[in-house]
Amino acid sequence: MKKDHPSIQQRALDTGAAKSCVTDAKELFVKDYVFPALQANALYEGQYPLATALARPLIARLLVDRAHQEGARAVAHGCTGKGNDQVRFDVSIAALDPRLQIIAPAREWEMTRKEEIAYAKRHGISIPATSASLYSTDENLWGRSIECGVLEDPWVEPPEDIYDLTRSPGDAPDKPAYVEIEFEEGIPVRLEGQDLDGVSLIDQLNELAGEHGVRRIDHVENRLVGIKSREIYEAPAAEVLLAAHRALEALVLSRDQSRFHERVTQEYSDLIYNGLWFSSLRQDLAAYVQSSQRFVSGSVRVKLFKGSCMVVGRKSPHSLYDLGLATYDEGDLFDQSASPGFIHIWGLPVRTQARRQWLDRRK
Ligand code: ARG
Repeated sequence: MKKDHPSIQQRALDTGAAKSCVTDAKELFVKDYVFPALQANALYEGQYPLATALARPLIARLLVDRAHQEGARAVAHGCTGKGNDQVRFDVSIAALDPRLQIIAPAREWEMTRKEEIAYAKRHGISIPATSASLYSTDENLWGRSIECGVLEDPWVEPPEDIYDLTRSPGDAPDKPAYVEIEFEEGIPVRLEGQDLDGVSLIDQLNELAGEHGVRRIDHVENRLVGIKSREIYEAPAAEVLLAAHRALEALVLSRDQSRFHERVTQEYSDLIYNGLWFSSLRQDLAAYVQSSQRFVSGSVRVKLFKGSCMVVGRKSPHSLYDLGLATYDEGDLFDQSASPGFIHIWGLPVRTQARRQWLDRRK
């Protein structure tokens, strides 16, 4: 579902707004938020590509800019008091302009979802949710989030009708699709040999991967406010690009860089999720990630088939993969006679400990 700008604008005017401005921020979103997160391999709790969480600091930034243009003293948002988004908005707005007052009616009036829907109805505000379908959804280029309604029972399988970006893997084409993605310094720049700007590249991948049922995520996650919640995500392009980016890094980063990157990934993902995009630590980590990407250039081939996304090929001019070292065939350059000496020293602490301290060596 593509968001329909005129209807969003009309909805604002229907609520009694004197003026309504809609900003297309897709390019900014991709350049300043999505791609840095991709370079960091950001995934919250190893599952959620953070589409909603990444959009919040940008919305806050544009909101604060607009408040300044209009000379406003206060800004408002529709978050309840139970979720992560209120934290992300409030912290980001305060980081950008601590003087702005923040008004959050749903939170201040402690409204339930049903009450919010009834309130909107009473005041002629058109919203997609109805009391029969209580889902709360959020969508952008990096993915779609769906929660509430029957999904609140973590035992209930998500009904097919909640999905919008992905075809059911069972109904996906019987023939796999292959797609080649080229990266320059950790940024995807070409699809199937064609130069594309970030927004078009993500758009096209969403279309293609979604068609093949890639990818649906069912996540019971830890919210910042201490609540566990069950959320379903659809993230076609994010899934493919994250898998491809990780595969390319595996080829060009040293083992130590890869291990360190994993730690940075976790910290960076938590910062995004927890509303700390505009923090010095996030900026410092971004500088590290940026530096780590200087050799992350090359191509990755991905196979999409009935909900799965598999990397089946990768190459880079900076590859550290050395066939002469890896091969078990002729042309082996690895000096096998050096291995026993290496193993002798490597295993020294284990042997010492086993001799001195172990009573039963079989456990
Ligand atoms: N759980 C996700 C997050 O905290 C998404 C929140 C918004 N979800 C929604 N369905 N409106 O980032």
